Amino acid sequence: MTEQNKTLIDQFGRKHDYLRISLIEKCNLRCTYCMPEHGIPLSPAKSLMTAEEIGKFAEIFVGFGVKKIRLTGGEPFLRKDFADIARLLAAFPVEISITTNGMLLDRNIVLLQDLGIKHLNFSLDTLKESRFLEMTRRTGFQKTMENFHLAIEEQFQLKINCVLMKGENDDEIIDFIRLTKDLPISVRFIEFMPFDGNKWNKSKLVSEAEILTQVEGEFGKANLISLPDEKNLTARKFKIEGFQGEFGIISSVTNPFCGTCNRIRLTANGRIKNCLFSNRETDLLKVMRADGDVEELILDSIYHKKAVRAGMDNMEKLSDPELHSQNRSMIAIGG
Ligand code: GTP
Ligand code: 5AD
Ligand code: SF4
Repeated sequence: MTEQNKTLIDQFGRKHDYLRISLIEKCNLRCTYCMPEHGIPLSPAKSLMTAEEIGKFAEIFVGFGVKKIRLTGGEPFLRKDFADIARLLAAFPVEISITTNGMLLDRNIVLLQDLGIKHLNFSLDTLKESRFLEMTRRTGFQKTMENFHLAIEEQFQLKINCVLMKGENDDEIIDFIRLTKDLPISVRFIEFMPFDGNKWNKSKLVSEAEILTQVEGEFGKANLISLPDEKNLTARKFKIEGFQGEFGIISSVTNPFCGTCNRIRLTANGRIKNCLFSNRETDLLKVMRADGDVEELILDSIYHKKAVRAGMDNMEKLSDPELHSQNRSMIAIGG
């Protein structure tokens, strides 16, 4: 294979250099928007990637020019060998970041500091304890908030992921933005997306436009500053004049950002997914275990990525359960 072939470019010219590895399908919360109440059937343990196999895949993807690796789950800190995996990955010349619900952060913080991992995306959908219990179907609010403050004290680069659901937590948009007055964090409001088993309904969606209307009403249009777009954005970013932190809106439903997508996903059972919404997966782990040509399969998967949301390029298609329910539950994708 020539060096030029070793770049992951799809048929639309998008270069893929950001790998999201899901380490585990389990979570210690049961967020309503993410997984069905009764849970999901888990992959058999022997079909999950071992730490060593994750390291081998990372080496292949780094060889393909991947510059950033995000660890997701389920909840990545639940993985018993999390420390081994983090140590293996930290040896590669990539930026490592983690998406977590934060509940187990205190137990892992020294490890992250030792390895120089500084980027944390922290899922937090409410600042109210009783609502946390409703939205996550679990206790743990106090611990989550303690660890949120710990991450700030320890100077992690922190983004909050807040999935908005109409009538559930959309009355907290302003409270979340107020957090950015004195804290150097980024709060991202995420449009509720449809996945298998999450009872998505368009009427539960809080759109980018609605969020901005609320913000302008509270802080005034003149104080809402639009920040420049990042190269491979998921969030369109803003700040309130004079506030230390910023906020963003991840509008995958009403205003997708697929044109600049650079993401590749590897599921906990070793399948490559070329799009968050794709149900077409290729089992790389099986091929790796049989000493087959994994690189060729990766190139093929990326090349065949669709232009927008795995072909669900309009609201009608995305809203159709026949289409979006063929995908996994979010818990088994990792965002
Ligand atoms: P950064 O690396 O900080 O940009 O992280 P991120 O925002 O990509 O990742 P995170 O795991 O924090 O996910 C935040 C939200 O963005 C979740 O709801 C994800 O599902 C969504 N998201 C992440 N990647 C993609 C993507 O490729 N496509 C779409 N449509 N949404 C995505
Ligand atoms: N829609 C939007 N975001 C979601 N997440 C989980 N499920 C959904 C959904 N249905 C978010 C989580 C986490 C990130 C990985 O994905 O809040 O922060
Ligand atoms: Fe990329 Fe698919 Fe997300 Fe669009 S929907 S940004 S193509 S992963």
